[in-house]
Parts: sequence; structure tokens; C-alpha cells
Amino acid sequence: MSGQRLSPRLRAALAAASDDRVVYDLVGIEAQYDELVRELPGLDVRFAVKACPVDEVLTCLADRGAGFDAASPGEIASALRTGVPVDRIHYGNTVKSDTDIAEAHRLGIRDFATDSLADVTAIAEHAPGSRVFCRLATDGQGALWGLSRKFGCSGQDAVQVLQAAGAAGLTPAGLSLHVGSQQMTTAAWRSAFDSLAEVLTALHRRGIVPDHVNLGGGLPALGYVDRRGSVLEPPLDKIFVVIREGVERLRDLSPAPLAVVMEPGRHLVADHGAIRAHVSRLTERRQPDGTLARWLYLSCGKFNGLYEMDQLGYRLVFPTHSAEYVPAVVAGPTCDSDDAYPSGHPRVRVPAGVASGDPVWVLSAGAYAISYLTQGFNGFRPLPHSATRGGT
Ligand SMILES: Cc1ncc(COP(=O)(O)O)c(C=O)c1O
Repeated sequence: MSGQRLSPRLRAALAAASDDRVVYDLVGIEAQYDELVRELPGLDVRFAVKACPVDEVLTCLADRGAGFDAASPGEIASALRTGVPVDRIHYGNTVKSDTDIAEAHRLGIRDFATDSLADVTAIAEHAPGSRVFCRLATDGQGALWGLSRKFGCSGQDAVQVLQAAGAAGLTPAGLSLHVGSQQMTTAAWRSAFDSLAEVLTALHRRGIVPDHVNLGGGLPALGYVDRRGSVLEPPLDKIFVVIREGVERLRDLSPAPLAVVMEPGRHLVADHGAIRAHVSRLTERRQPDGTLARWLYLSCGKFNGLYEMDQLGYRLVFPTHSAEYVPAVVAGPTCDSDDAYPSGHPRVRVPAGVASGDPVWVLSAGAYAISYLTQGFNGFRPLPHSATRGGT
């Protein structure tokens, strides 16, 4: 996989940037998309817009053949701007108001995620005749961010929900789930296919034959460091094997053709985006326990590009320094104590000689960076972005 290394295109774009920004390598994102489709042939990829709502990125994925998983009418509008046919976009959020549903329907959306009878009733009223897929709950085990509490229902409830959908004039079209974001295990995927097989069989028995399953997101990025400072090495090839076998199993038990949709987010973009930031200052202060600690304050942090620093470590490159590294706590620039790696996160090796204003590159920051920017918290303006294809 190419994602772990800094591509020459990204390196050149970062080096050329004279101010702070997020930089995306569109060629890298396209290659990542192509590799995913090679690994899972026939897969209908619906990129999760929330992971990178950047027009250039969405358009390059649409041009490659991707559709979109949208979480709101705003994201539907972003997806439509790419020119992708509206039937390649679905409303993948189980949480939506009557107005959201009606607006999505007005924009042409006919596929809706659901997980409750109340939501089905609302879809039947505000998007009559649409197709729905029911999200099954997962336990989120093995993922850096489990999505177990807020979404999804039991298999038994899913059968009821889809039966109710049919009775309300909707098409009970599919089942979905999400194994949790940055899922690190094959076991979670195995268990996902067990649930899907069980619920599909129960639906078939009741005469409901879904035409697709939606495997959600959860495919990992490859360039992260974890909270202990170790490089995360997700078993991606083994995950692909489990998915291929699982899909075959579901198709074998289905009496009609079964399409397979996925909604990857971070897997497609994380390793192909990086932040050009700068050093605010390297300082040394005595800590409450009496020890001396160095702190490296960066120009970006939790509220401006590194929202996921509570779970992740980011690899840092100091392009103007190469010698004499010292350990430091890394933190963002705001006057907020959450804007730092949490206590317990190991110190990061930083060049002893860094000075205020020196450039820093934050790698594997392409997912959820732009979407989680605050609107000028503490007066730091949201990071701008640019996209490169190299050679310019
Ligand atoms: C419904 C849905 N699909 C897909 C995704 C993308 O997940 P990931 O970035 O882990 O691939 C998310 C992320 O929260 C989601 O909520």
C-alpha cells in the first residue's frame, strides 16, 4: 500500500506551501480508490462525504466512478455538485428531521438509511415510495471509534422495521452496518457478516428479499500512530479476504442478485492528505509533579485540523531540521487544555533547534480534518486547503 509513505506529489505541495493549509494528493486518492475496487471487485463505493467534504476530492472520486453516502441535505448538495447522478447518492444518516427528509426527497434522493419505526413513518410521509435500508447495530469492538450506541437496531427489530416499510409503501431494499471507524480486527468483519446472514435469512422467510447490503465504513488508514506511540498496522489484506468471503456467503444465500455497497471514508483520503503547519514555540516548563517537560506548540491542533488527537498520534516531519531530537508533549495553539495529546500519550521526538515559525508537516491528516474545523475558535482562522496532482 502506498498510503504509509509521503508521496513525492504531497511532499512537493507541502514544501511549496508558504502558509498553513491542508493539502490533498488527488492522484493518491484515485490510486487508493482503484486499489479498493481491485480488492473488492463489483463493489459499489459510496464515499462518506463527512470524511472529506472538499469539492476537488469529491469530484475526483465521482470521476473515478464513486457515488456518495450523505449525512444531511447539505452533504447531498455537495455530492450533487460533482455531477454524479442522484441515484448514486444515498441518505446514510439514520437521524433526520421531517424537513431533512423532505429536502433530500426534493433534491432527488430515493435511498434512505433507517433504524426505527418512527423514522420509517417519517420517510413514508415525506419521501413517499422511496427505498430504505435498515442499519444493524454493532458493538464497535476493535475500532478506534466504535459507533455502537447511537445507531442501528437488533436483527429482530430490523425485520419489523423493514416489514413496516413495505406496509407503508416504501421498498425494503437493504441492510447496512458500520463496524466502527478505523476498525483494526478481522473478527469485527466476521461478526458483521454473521449478523447480515442471519437477518437476511429471517427476511427471506418473510418474503422480503433485499437487493443490497451496505457494509458501511470502517476500513482503516495505514499511516496512523496510536495513543501509545506505536504505528498502527491494521490487517488490511486479511480484512479484504474476510469481506470477499462474506460477500460470497451472502450472495449464496440470497434468492436474487445482491449488490454490495460500501461507504469508506478515512481509508480513501486519510493517507493522501497532510497539513502544512508551523511551530508556534518549543518551551520547557516544570510540571505539577516537579519534573521538567518540553512542550511543542503547533499552529494547528484539536480545534484546527487535528480533532482526532484524542485517539491518534500523527507523524510529524520537520523539513528544515534533521538532528538532535528531544522528547516533547505536542499541543495545539489555543488557550484550551484539551488542545493537546492526552496525558499518557508518549512524548514525541522533535528537533531541539526548532524555532517559532518553522514549518511542520502533519502526515495522514486527510480524513476528518476539514469537516471538524471549528469556526475560528480562539480566533484561529479555519485552515484553508488545496489539492494537487503534482507537476504544478
Ligand atoms: C454512516 C457512515 N458511513 C460511513 C462512515 C465513514 O466511516 P469511516 O471513515 O470509518 O470509513 C461513517 C463515519 O462516521 C458513517 O457514519
